[in-house]
Formats: sequence, structure tokens, C-alpha cells
Amino acid sequence: MKVTVVGAGAVGATCADNIARKELAHEVVLLDIKEGLAEGKAQDMMQTAQLLGFDTRITGSTADYSKTAGSDVVVITSGIPRKPGMTREELIGTNAGIVKGVAQNILQHSPDAIIIVISNPMDTMTYLALQSTGLPKHRIIGMGGTLDSSRFRYQLSQHLGCSPSDLNALVIGGHGDTTMIPLIRHATWNSIPVTQFLNADQQQQVVNDTMVGGATLTKLIGTSAWYAPGAAGAMLVESILRDEKKLQTCCVYLNGEYGQQDICLGVPVVVGRNGWEKIVELELNDEEQAAFAKSADAVRSMNDVLKTL
Ligand code: LAC
Repeated sequence: MKVTVVGAGAVGATCADNIARKELAHEVVLLDIKEGLAEGKAQDMMQTAQLLGFDTRITGSTADYSKTAGSDVVVITSGIPRKPGMTREELIGTNAGIVKGVAQNILQHSPDAIIIVISNPMDTMTYLALQSTGLPKHRIIGMGGTLDSSRFRYQLSQHLGCSPSDLNALVIGGHGDTTMIPLIRHATWNSIPVTQFLNADQQQQVVNDTMVGGATLTKLIGTSAWYAPGAAGAMLVESILRDEKKLQTCCVYLNGEYGQQDICLGVPVVVGRNGWEKIVELELNDEEQAAFAKSADAVRSMNDVLKTL
């Protein structure tokens, strides 16, 4: 199995690192347009192979897409990250051109690849990747909800004093500070509803902290986060290459599901060797449904910006 990660910035490099450590593929190609960056980071990672005990081969390439040929999965992280105070949406002008070009280059050499989009604004970049390549919808997956759901579990674990891995919790909707919807009513601690343990104020706090999870880190670090975004990308690669059929929230093309059409938005999907294989419909109450529709409106108006670029 071969995986390409486009963009050797912090998110891309972390994703490649996770894929190698878990030996999810025989080969990982890290590609960047900045001369030497991908080669350097690939070498640095390869110099951990003996220390960490993995046999995946990581190579770097400066914009030579022929090196990516025959990739089974491609993760796109290219584009500029947000700076403190910026929203993900402000990146659209720069990142749209980059993501479109990358997706087309990739497909010239890996026509059968499944594409995972991490670049922001993620929902719109996923939609753009789908529209500009014309690939079957199952082969384009936006990563946002996988990351946001993990952040949601972290916030819950802090309040409950428990292990994040004992929690089941989903964030649906857009991957934006105001568009994501942490579904606290559905969240459980090993099957027990978390709402049994948290009062209304605590529940609201968890939801709010989850929604600004990325922005909080951007403020603390000075740039966008990378450990959890990179790990979330690698987790999706794992679900695909090992055909795990894991239920993940991912940004996928909706054709009537959840009452939405012609949009890519975060919903629970089964992820396996064919990409996202099935959308799972959750019963939403009126409030959750209204939040989902509002999230879709916001993402749709961002998608409309693509027409003006
Ligand atoms: C974040 C970026 C990757 O949420 O969107 O950290």
C-alpha cells in the first residue's frame, strides 16, 4: 500500500509520521512545493525508524508528482494555516487554487486514489475537490468531524475525569467555529449518557469549548494545531487501508441525506476500502436539525465564494 501526503507542514508531516509509526502502508510519499522541505522531514522521520521500530519507507519530493504514482490514498494538507484571530473561512482565496491544482496533479498519477482533504476551509475544500475532479463521491472525504469529535471527547473527559477512549461522542455539521455541532445529547460514557453526569451549564461549556477547540490552540501556539489534525488524517487512512468499516464523522457529499443537497458536510459515515461507504442517519431533534440546516447555510455561502474566485 502506498500513501501520499501533500503538504509537508506540521499537519502533513505529523500525518505521515503517524502512518509510518503504525505501519499502515509500505511507502509514504511526502510532497511539498518548498524546495527540500519534504525531503528533509522524510529523512528526519526515517532516522526514527530503527528507534521506533517501523519498516514503512518515507520519501520526500519537491513538487514532483511522478513520485506519488500509484498511491492508494492521498491526504491533502496543502495551503496556508490560520493565524491567531483568523477564521478558517478567511483562507479560502489562497487555498482554493492550491487544493484544486493539487487534486488534479494527484489524479494524473494515481487515478484510483481515495482523497482525504484536511486543508481549510475544509468543508468548502472538500466540495471543491469533488467538483473540480469529478471523482465518484465516495472517494473524497473531508477530515474535520473526525478531529472535532476527538476534541469533543477530550473536553468531555476533562469534565468527567475519565479516559477519552471510554467516550462515544460525535460532532456533525461544518468544521468551523460556529458551524460545528457537538451532539452532547447522544454522547455516552461506555453507553451511559454523559448528560446524566453534567448539568446544563457544564454541557454548554463542553459544547462551547469544543467548537472553539482549533481557535483556542491557534491562539496558544501562534499557528494552527497539528498533532490531532495529523492523527485524525492518519486514522482515516487506517480505516480505508485496513477496510475497518469504522464509523467516523466525515465531510462527505450529501444528496438528500440529513435534508441537504449538493453540499459536503460532516455526518457519520462508515469508512472502508472504498472510501466512505455509507452515510448513517441519526435521529436529530428539532434543535439539532435547525443547527444542521444553519450550518449548511453557512457552508453553502462559503461554497458560493468559489464561483467568484
Ligand atoms: C484545526 C484545523 C486543522 O481545527 O482546522 O486545528
